[in-house]
Amino acid sequence: MFDIEKLIRPNIKKLKPYSSARDEFSGTASVFLDANENSFGSPLPKNYNRYPDPLQWKLKEKIAQIKGVPAQHIFLGNGSDECIDLLYRAFCNPGIDNVIICPPTYGMYEVSAGINDVEALKVSLTNDFQLDMERIASTIDERTKLLFLCSPNNPTGNSLYREDIELILNSFEGLVIIDEAYINFSKQQSFIRELTEYPNLVVMQTLSKAWGLAALRVGMIFSSLPVIEVLNKIKPPYNVNQASQELALEALENIAQVNDWTKKLVEEREKLAADLKQLPGVQFIYPSDANFLLVKINEARNMYEALVNKGIIVRDRSRVALCEGCLRITVGTPEENEILAEAMRELENNL
Ligand SMILES: Cc1ncc(COP(=O)(O)O)c(C=O)c1O
Repeated sequence: MFDIEKLIRPNIKKLKPYSSARDEFSGTASVFLDANENSFGSPLPKNYNRYPDPLQWKLKEKIAQIKGVPAQHIFLGNGSDECIDLLYRAFCNPGIDNVIICPPTYGMYEVSAGINDVEALKVSLTNDFQLDMERIASTIDERTKLLFLCSPNNPTGNSLYREDIELILNSFEGLVIIDEAYINFSKQQSFIRELTEYPNLVVMQTLSKAWGLAALRVGMIFSSLPVIEVLNKIKPPYNVNQASQELALEALENIAQVNDWTKKLVEEREKLAADLKQLPGVQFIYPSDANFLLVKINEARNMYEALVNKGIIVRDRSRVALCEGCLRITVGTPEENEILAEAMRELENNL
């Protein structure tokens, strides 16, 4: 049986969280002398001399409306990367607990494990980039607190089978984190709809991809109240800054624009895949549910370097297990994709 009390680290359970000036007073007042801010103002036209809302309620209310999840079930971090780190800090005892990750996948799950002195048990994806369910089951032990799944997965681009994820949610007694950074580019349904079904489900999304706000650093977690409460308890008090809160709120009014870009991106992805397939050196293009393509190509490293020399940067994944000989290519604008395809066509003959 899933029991959150068994998962939270004892020191975090005992922790008395920092109470900021903005936590202790909320309401209307005219004279704020409680936070040692600069009362004269800020050199900028806006009130940036004041600390921001620690719990980002306005922004969360807007996200709640868009996602159909109550604001209390949302946690916001300084990018998903902060969310990942806070999950380790809340639930994994350093030097004792472990987590499961399924490479090839997003690198920060393992890096964050290392930073927090938590063992990352690796269960590689199968050759078709799906979960190895038997090995996952035999790897889980009584010290396994978190299981990271990335769907659609980076760098492979595919979505994981829904039935497999459901089986894990039903049987694993730790938290299942589903990183849906690329969900907008996929036809798959988000697991956000399943939050009421599974108390151990943590869905992670970000404003860095489809929403085009990577510079603002806003990552989102959707989960059960006890998980959100513990993350709020341990986060740095003002982890999402005022400028990011305001700009994200403004950007979230532009759903139509984002949907339009996403639709175009998906069309461009298929067009770029078709164009690259024509190149004799391209062996395989993996089907993608994301905003990038994983391309298996002859002499991948040489191609990568030749592209760099032309000022075109893609991601060399050729030495990553299961991605041998592959480049990961972000889908760009039609013009950028054209430049890339043309450059690859030209370079192929000279490698
Ligand atoms: C799967 C996945 N999750 C999370 C992130 C990072 O998200 P953020 O910009 O919100 O930290 C990335 C970035 O590449 C990613 O590929």
